Formats: sequence, structure tokens, C-alpha cells
Amino acid sequence: MHDSEHAKPPKQLTLEQKAALTSGGDFWHTQALPGAGIAPVMLADGPHGLRRQPEGGDALGIGTSVPATCFPPLVGLGSSWNRSLVEQVGRAIAREATAQRVGVVLGPGVNIKRSPLGGRNFEYVSEDPLLAGRIGAAWVTGVQSLGVGTSLKHFAVNSQETDRLRVSAEVDERTLREIYLPAFEHIVTTARPTTVMCAYNAVNGTLCSQNRWLLTEVLRGEWGFDGLVVSDWGAVSDRAAALEAGLDLEMPPSGADQALAEAVRTGDLDQRYLDASARRVLELIERTAGPRAADGAISVEEHHALARAAATESAVLLKNDGGLLPLDPHAGTALAVIGAFAETPRFQGGGSSHVVPNRVDSALEAIRATVAHPERIRFAPGFTLDGNPDEQLVEQAVDAARGAAQVLLFLGLPESAESEGFDRTDLLLPADQLALLNAVAQVSADIVVVLSNGATVQMTPWQDQATAVLEGWLLGQAGGSALADLLFGIANPSGRLAETIPLRLEDSPSYLHFPGGDGHVHHGEGLFVGYRSYDTLGTAVAYPFGHGLSYTTFGYGDLAVTEAGPNRFSACFTVTNTGSRAGAEVAQLYVHQPVSRLRRPVHELKAFEKVFLEPGESTRVTLELDERSFAYWSPRDSGWTVDPGEFELRIGASSRDLRLRAGVRCAGTPRPHRLVAESTIGEWLADPVGGPLLIAAIKADLADSPVPVNLDGSEISAMAAALPLARVPAFLAGVTRAHIAALVAATEEARAATEQARAATEG
Ligand code: BGC
Repeated sequence: MHDSEHAKPPKQLTLEQKAALTSGGDFWHTQALPGAGIAPVMLADGPHGLRRQPEGGDALGIGTSVPATCFPPLVGLGSSWNRSLVEQVGRAIAREATAQRVGVVLGPGVNIKRSPLGGRNFEYVSEDPLLAGRIGAAWVTGVQSLGVGTSLKHFAVNSQETDRLRVSAEVDERTLREIYLPAFEHIVTTARPTTVMCAYNAVNGTLCSQNRWLLTEVLRGEWGFDGLVVSDWGAVSDRAAALEAGLDLEMPPSGADQALAEAVRTGDLDQRYLDASARRVLELIERTAGPRAADGAISVEEHHALARAAATESAVLLKNDGGLLPLDPHAGTALAVIGAFAETPRFQGGGSSHVVPNRVDSALEAIRATVAHPERIRFAPGFTLDGNPDEQLVEQAVDAARGAAQVLLFLGLPESAESEGFDRTDLLLPADQLALLNAVAQVSADIVVVLSNGATVQMTPWQDQATAVLEGWLLGQAGGSALADLLFGIANPSGRLAETIPLRLEDSPSYLHFPGGDGHVHHGEGLFVGYRSYDTLGTAVAYPFGHGLSYTTFGYGDLAVTEAGPNRFSACFTVTNTGSRAGAEVAQLYVHQPVSRLRRPVHELKAFEKVFLEPGESTRVTLELDERSFAYWSPRDSGWTVDPGEFELRIGASSRDLRLRAGVRCAGTPRPHRLVAESTIGEWLADPVGGPLLIAAIKADLADSPVPVNLDGSEISAMAAALPLARVPAFLAGVTRAHIAALVAATEEARAATEQARAATEG
């Protein structure tokens, strides 16, 4: 840090200066206070590359930005399931940020892909919170390892674009805790992002920018976040209310500094809120001093090579009948390459994350460079990028396909179909592209469809006309050469689906509720998002969560589970490359609870590991499960709960390709739940402290009464079990309110004594 930049403690600043610090100086900088020696921090979008705009830039990706390496967007990186790769990408982005003097890169986005229609799904990782959290944490760790800051976004429940600046996501607390918050929680508690960006929308009626429960109680209080909360661009409605709720920095500035200072003067806003936020802005300036001081240079070549490696791990081979892929690069037979995307790649989505790439590889050129006989390639665009049907293009494409040994058909969604700012309304590929496939299929039996799309598309019935399908998502600027590497076996596909591909939009769990209306979106499917719904209901899907083929095969065996402590286990097993090519497998571990107090998904992803293996090579994989791996959020107890009892660990290659299983027994979490008069007889009897006391009380006081329970407590009718104790006097003469009050008091006393004894032993 330069001496002149040393942050003065806020008390030496005037109210106006503090107010100025808590909103931007312009669109992309914090406020500079030269008189106080305070330098501005530059912020720039990401997250799949740097979008550093010149003066006067915009937030919507309309204006241009300085060229940078465009890595695969998170839809791709998420499908790599490779944390160290994502960390490397993060480091490369940090180097580019440093070279551009950018202090904070605005990413990663870890909102849950609630619906396949979500307009920003290409910017998000997964339908699963564990995967989103692990990939997001790797990105933050990579970027911050070089001193550049990050902004974890959009906190929280920003899972749609429709009415995004106003809509209130109505979500029950258990669903928030189990689905929409854990990725943020994991990243905050393990990777410590410098900033968190609050979302535009409201959660349960309160705008995220003014949501004290989210920004202060949960984020800082429960998770220990010590960084700065910045608004999404334009998310602040009432600055004083936002500061009180826990927001520190309004971006871009709305010009309300004077009014904010005045609010403190009149006592409408407690000064401690302004002081705390101004201090956090100063801390951010200190934490991100590195990029301002550095003279960074980057190697465009090296970063492009990393973008290519990342893209090869991001594509997912969905289907490969008869082992059509990989193609032989040395063959002499004609190969038709059809589809405008082969020549003009679609490699990122629209909006604020749009990067101006410093190079772009087209698949067509890369294919020509890969094959031994480039003259065998016959190219035809087949369709126009603006969606205008052109019969002549189809005819040319059919001519190219006729007599060719294979056809590589590049289909996908046009740029106009996917962007920040709106959601899609269907999952269909454009009709002209499907007509093209149909026409080509009349003359060719060996069609490989290569897809470019930022979110899932419907695969049926058209995929029956394709022998192989390579889901290329959006792969960044080196996607074209990565696809050529994969198609010709120079690289082996190792991406796995981070989101289920449903058969039909109507099967998706949020279908009936998405995107809501009249300012509200009700999360009626609750925590049954993605495979949590499909697998629980046994709904047929096109491709399940975690699926992805390889040019080799993998075997699983020798599962050994060891208990590592109460409610903690290590699962150790062998993965073997049983085929003839080097390749990578993503071993996934799901936890299933056969019987639970609250309804749970049939299984949930709790750990995974990507392993690279030579042909014939084996490795032992160890996956650790902690207490949270078995827990659900109990609204009754306002906390994470593990039921005592049996669980099953399911290990395999997708949520529907489970190869190994083992049962474990959890001790459960001590119930923080207190028994009260309104607790049912069943709850009383199940409680280790209250149960015996209830039985003793029955024996002592009601020995002569016709009591509805067996005195050992071993058998009880379901009807009696459901009866709150407080209602028993209405049914049983002889039981009084005084009896019940005495029992509650005795139970509290006994529990306190037990807890004291335990504390004494532990202490
Ligand atoms: C987006 C953010 C982005 C910000 C700055 C907003 O419109 O929602 O993701 O970081 O603009 O460009």
C-alpha cells in the first residue's frame, strides 16, 4: 500500500466524507477522498474473464470493454467438477485484474438453477448447493490468492430474471437453509470472499439490500463474514434502511450522500451504522491495495491455453452410441461440418458478464488444423444466426452431408435467446435448426450433434436422429479448439452434468410456480429442486444429474467406511480405469436417509472427487462426511438436526448410476428441542429425559386410571401419540394442568442437571 493511501479511522472523517465512502465515486470505483488520502478501488465484472470498462461504462454489457481472456462461463466450469482447475482460472483472472488495476472482480455467481428457464443460468454453477459452493469457493480462493478481491453474488435467491429488481421470492426457511443459502455459507466460511453482493430481489417481502436477517444476522452473525456488502448495481431503494440492515456500499452512486449525512444529524440513522460501513470500505481499500501497486503483465498465450484446457473439461459427452466418437484424425473419408456455430462460435452469454475476448477459436478452423487431410472437410452453415429460415442453406448442408462418412452438426441457442435481464419461455432448439437436423438425417446415419447453449435444451425427440451428442455449453474463447480436441480424441471428455436435463419443461419441479407474477414468486416446490425432485419422484429424465460419458470406462469397488467421530465418516473406495484410454472420472457420493422425521429428498450430493487415471490404473478415493452431510434444517429447532439412526452412502457416476452402497448409523444431534405442555405424548416418550419422567409420573399418579399407553412406553396407539400432553386432561379424569406443569418443570430441571454434568466432564 502507498503511504498516501493509509486509511484514516472513520472518526477523523466528516459525516459527509463517511457518507461519500459508502457509495461509489462512479460506475466502477469506490469514492476517492484525496484530501483524506483515500484512493478508490476499481471493481469490474467477471466472472469468467475480466470486463474492465473504460470511463462511463454501463452495467448491462452494452458498452465495450478492454479485451481479456474469456474463460468458460460458470455453466461450463461447474460441469468440470474440477476445483483445482477452477482455482487456476481464478488465478489467471486475478493476474488480468492486476494488470488492469482492478481491485475487485464481481463474481462468482452461485445462485441455484431453480428452473432450466433461468435467464442467467449460464452464469451460475448448478442446481445443487454443494457443487455450487465447492466450485465457487475454488474460484474465490484462486482470485484472492493473488490479492485481488471478489464479490460473491447475488445474495440471495436471485434465481430468475423476470421482474428481478422487485420480485419477492417467497421461500420457507428450511428451503432457504438447505438449498438457497449453503453455497454462500460454504464460500463465506471457507474462502472468505472480500465482498458479498446483495441481490436485486426481495426475499419473503424484504428487499435483499434492506434485509437485516440476511445481511447481518445470517451473513455476519452466523457465518462470521468480516468483509463488505456491496449492492448489486442499482439494487438500493432506501440507503439509510440498507445501511441499518447491513449493506455497506451502494453501487453505482445514486447521489444521496448529503441526505444520508443529514439523517445521522437528525437522529434518523444511528451513526454507528455509517461508521461501521465506512470502516469496511476503508478495509476493502486496504485489502485490495495489491492490484493498485502492481505492474502486472499477462501472457495471452498461456491464458488462452488454460481457457482451452478448462473448456475441454467443461463439455459433457451425453451420448455416444456404438463409440462413434472419437473420430479418427488420420481418416481420409469426407467429413461434413455443418452449422453456423462451427464457424462463428457461441461461447458466452449476454449482459454484464460479457467479456470482449482477446482471441476466438472457431471449431471449423480447429478441426481443419487437427485432421491429417483438411481437404476432406466439407463445411456448410446450414442456418443463419439471426434465425431467418433459408432453404438454400439447408440444401447446401444436405449436399455436404450426402456421402460424407460422418456429420458434425453444430446446433445451439442463438445469442438473443440467453441473456441477463430475461428468462426463457421454452427449452426448444430453434425450429430451423431442428428442420436442418431432420433434413441431414435423411442422408446420413452418423451424425454427431455438438451443442452450444447456456442452459439445458429439450433433447427429445430430435436426439434419436443423432448417434452422438456432445453438450458444449458455452465454452469461452478457446471452446472451438477444445471441441476439436474432444471430437478427435486428443482430449477425453470428463465434464459431468451440474444440472439435470429433463425430458420436458413440464417435468421441471418449479414449472407450476416459475416465474410467479404480481411481484411474487412462490417457491412451491420447496427444497425439491433439480434431481432432489426427479430422483425422489422417479421422473424419467433425458440425462440425470452428474451424468457424462468418457472414451474410457471406470470401475468402482472395495468400499470401506470408517467412523471418524459422532456423525462423521470417511468413505474410501477404489476407482479403476478399465478401458484403453487415459481419462477422468467424477466419483459422486450421495446420502440417503431411509426414515426421517421430516420429508427429505431421496438422496443428496455430499461429496465428490475428480480423478485422472491412465488405462488400467486404480486409485483409492477418500471422501469425508461431516455432521452437516447428514443433517436437515429443523424449523422447529431453528437449527441443523441429524436424526439418530440408519443412513445409506451411495457412490457412483451420476445420481442414477450408483455403484457402491454402505449403511452407516448416526448417533444424531442432541436435540436442542425443549419439551413443553404442547409437545405430544409421542414426543415426550421419544425424549431421553422427558420420556422416563412421563412414564414415572403415570405410574405414580395414575396407577388406577385407564391410561392410553403401555406403562413401559413400548407400545402406544398412533392416536394417543399425536395427543399434545396439554390436552390430556380433557380425555383423562385424574390428570390435571398442575400434573403437567410439574412434569414440564421436572424435565427442565433434569435436563439442566444432565447438561451441567456433561459440561463438567468435557471441561
Ligand atoms: C448484475 C451484476 C453485475 C453488476 C455490475 C448487475 O446488473 O446483476 O451481476 O456484477 O450489474 O455490472
